[in-house]
Amino acid sequence: MKIPKKKFYITTPIYYVNDVPHIGHAYTTIAADVTARYKRLNNYKVFFLTGTDEHGQKVLQAARELGIEPQDHVDKLHNRFKELWARLNISNDDFIRTTEKRHQTLVTHILQKLYDRKEIYKDSYEGWYCTPDERFWTEKDLVNGNCPDCNRKVEKIQEHNYFFKMGQHQDWLKKYIKSNNKFIQPASRRNEVLGFLEKPLSDLCISRPKERLPWGIPLPFDESYVTYVWFDALINYISVHGTLEKIESSGFWPVNHHLLGKDILTTHAVYWSTILKAIGLDPPLNLFAHGWWTINGQKMSKSVGNTVEPNILVDQFGVDAIRYFLLREVPFGLDGDFSHKALIGRINSDLANNLGNLLNRTMSMIKRYHDQIIPEPNSRAEDADLKNEFKLGIETVQKLYGDLAYHKILERIWLLVDTTNKYIDTNSPWNLIKSESGKQRLATVMYNTAECIRSISILIYPFMPKSAETIMEQLGIETSIEEQGMESLKTWGWIKSGRNIQPGLQLFPRIEDKDVEKILKSVESLNNKDQKPPMLIETEGICDQILIDEFMKVDLRTGKIIEAEKIKKSKKLLKLKVDIGTEIRQVVAGIAECYEPDQLINRTVILVANLKPVKLMGIESQGMLLAANNNGQIVLAGFDPIPNQGIRVR
Ligand code: MSP
Repeated sequence: MKIPKKKFYITTPIYYVNDVPHIGHAYTTIAADVTARYKRLNNYKVFFLTGTDEHGQKVLQAARELGIEPQDHVDKLHNRFKELWARLNISNDDFIRTTEKRHQTLVTHILQKLYDRKEIYKDSYEGWYCTPDERFWTEKDLVNGNCPDCNRKVEKIQEHNYFFKMGQHQDWLKKYIKSNNKFIQPASRRNEVLGFLEKPLSDLCISRPKERLPWGIPLPFDESYVTYVWFDALINYISVHGTLEKIESSGFWPVNHHLLGKDILTTHAVYWSTILKAIGLDPPLNLFAHGWWTINGQKMSKSVGNTVEPNILVDQFGVDAIRYFLLREVPFGLDGDFSHKALIGRINSDLANNLGNLLNRTMSMIKRYHDQIIPEPNSRAEDADLKNEFKLGIETVQKLYGDLAYHKILERIWLLVDTTNKYIDTNSPWNLIKSESGKQRLATVMYNTAECIRSISILIYPFMPKSAETIMEQLGIETSIEEQGMESLKTWGWIKSGRNIQPGLQLFPRIEDKDVEKILKSVESLNNKDQKPPMLIETEGICDQILIDEFMKVDLRTGKIIEAEKIKKSKKLLKLKVDIGTEIRQVVAGIAECYEPDQLINRTVILVANLKPVKLMGIESQGMLLAANNNGQIVLAGFDPIPNQGIRVR
């Protein structure tokens, strides 16, 4: 009989869809991916969830500025996260969006249930409101009259709202935290939450009047309000599993880990735990609050222009180096400062010199001494110390996963890399080959080295999946890493003799000193380049390859501009009429800062003719003009000589 797999559920926060993804977001998502992959190696059925938080004031505001519907705005924006996760090799099992029906249905159901049970009531409310954070504060919460969280101005607001009776769960929550050591980690953060719970816990305002904020999930019992964005967002962790009944029977609740940044611990530890208590679900088993990345000691922010863009890092250094660096450099739970120099340092020392070199030298010795074939060991009883070192190392790594101590796990794995390098040096295969008795020992040494590398490759797989797979390919092993699993590390000698190895390219090429300055300048300038608001960002690297028929789906036509005028209240947009031979198209183009309307009349341009029309500043745009953004100067694509209108451009 097949034994059902044990289940394991891990989540990241759902990211604000409006934000441009940066290394802070990538950090949590990579950390969750590592644990998800590790659990799969241990034969668990894993559910790994990430997604986007799509309601609230900021999304509405951004969509209004662009003159488009908020739904169209989020439909576009959420893809930036999805695409980045694919690039970073994130193995999430689902991606939830709070504008999806499955999510809205459960939020509505929970609200109605709590309302029917009188856990939600209406009251008049006066408080200080921070619009960017979408949070109410009391007078005593304010710091110098500003929002205690973001230090921005707050407004005094008086209105009727709905409240969730959160305060009544205070004693239960305190007791729960105190009697479950691992519920909130690290311990310092747990103490902070307990400190917060020393003050009386007020009820939670869970509504916003629709007239002030129409972009949200309507309250089922009063359509003139929408749901407070945090009450809506937190439910994502269960809405992904369907109805409350399905969640209980799914085997994925309680969740094993919610990974999150320290800034959103209170919302999870207090709001989320009490909501769950009220609806009768168990609290999460663990909330792990990690620290924040700063850049040269400064908070990352779009306005300062210092956000570190993961795509640029990947283009320059490769995915696995980034995954490794983020989790190796700073203990999970503490703040850390990001620097490209430190990243290059780790690539050269840990990846190129230690691990890369171990693989290269082993491959070249098996090639030279054993005709590229993993030899049969002369004795399986020798080298007990080496085998013991690995046994201990693997046990320690397994324990460290319990506390998500990623940097210690990597440190411990690298001790095994060092052990293997030392084993080679001590045995000196280059001397053993010189004598007949030495050759006997050589076979054992090379076999054991190959097995060490296989073990290391399994251990690094959660952190660096592509590199681990490449190592397996070079060792000539076809069984997938997940199939081998942690189980295959229990006894020494899984690797079979007689296999043909496939030496390949260097895994992690060293970054030479002479290139460092050039690389640093290039990544830093790409990062600082005029970080633009969403939708106006250009991708710097070449996009992924597509097939010709995918390209041919884009219908590009020549067209002549026959009318052009400015759009009131818009600095950027012009309204154009473009003759494309068979019809006249109205196009709203963001070129007003670079072209005067009169300059454009009779100009031949290239129009994307089969784009779904959108509204910009309330005006329908039936196509898009091709143009290059030359350091902020928009230049329209054109021809020389000039063709007729309506010709297809390929
Ligand atoms: N949408 C909410 C979460 C709702 S979860 C039900 C939110 N989104 S966020 O996009 O602002 O932040 C998401 C996560 O990114 C948070 O865990 C936050 O701590 C993390 N980070 C944002 N900037 C960061 C750094 N500079 N460094 C590390 N993590 C940071 O909050």
